[in-house]
Amino acid sequence: MKIKTAQFVISNTDYKICPTPKMPEYAFIGRSNVGKSSLINALANNKNLAKTSTKPGKTQLINHFLINKKWYLVDLPGYGFAKTSKEKRARFHDMISEYLLNRSNLMCLFVLIDSRHNAQAIDQEFIQWLSENEIPFVLVFTKGDKLGKTVLAKNVEEYKSEMLKQWAELPRIFITSAEKKRGLDDILTYIESLNPIFREIT
Ligand code: GTP
Ligand code: MG
Repeated sequence: MKIKTAQFVISNTDYKICPTPKMPEYAFIGRSNVGKSSLINALANNKNLAKTSTKPGKTQLINHFLINKKWYLVDLPGYGFAKTSKEKRARFHDMISEYLLNRSNLMCLFVLIDSRHNAQAIDQEFIQWLSENEIPFVLVFTKGDKLGKTVLAKNVEEYKSEMLKQWAELPRIFITSAEKKRGLDDILTYIESLNPIFREIT
């Protein structure tokens, strides 16, 4: 699938006022600075669609982008941003968890992991929570260009082994670089395969 049109629709703090859930939706989440907004821009082939920054904590709202007039990509704030206040963190947490638990058209959550890091407790706890709440998700390793091929493959394998200590099965895994535009077709093909399964819940 090719993305022909990508339009910013709206930013929200509350899932209740997000666009009516009449089309399939795919949201991107992960630690602050992992590369969520950059990956959305790379997929849409538009550097100015979602706001990115070298500093963590850039995306602070639930941002909807309408793709090919048929489905939504959603850029979410990052978790685990240490420099924000306790109250703000709690607000983010509530906003994100309410969205994830209640958004009826959410087909799949893309959980982004920086391919340079080992398995981190905060990601593992989040994945545990997703599974307890039956929220469908896949894993996306980001910033693949920052590592050599061998180290990248080794890190992904280590991550998988770490996960298999806790899980009987691994989720679907994508390896990407927004910078070098790697792994994007795999994600778009996956989304294309899920779109027809969408049924509006009324
Ligand atoms: P928050 O909105 O703050 O949670 O961050 P985010 O996850 O949306 O990250 P963002 O896309 O803003 O990117 C953070 C930084 O990582 C920016 O400086 C990006 O240029 C850089 N970055 C993102 N993806 C890649 C990538 O694939 N390769 C490289 N080399 N840098 C990347
Ligand atoms: Mg962002």
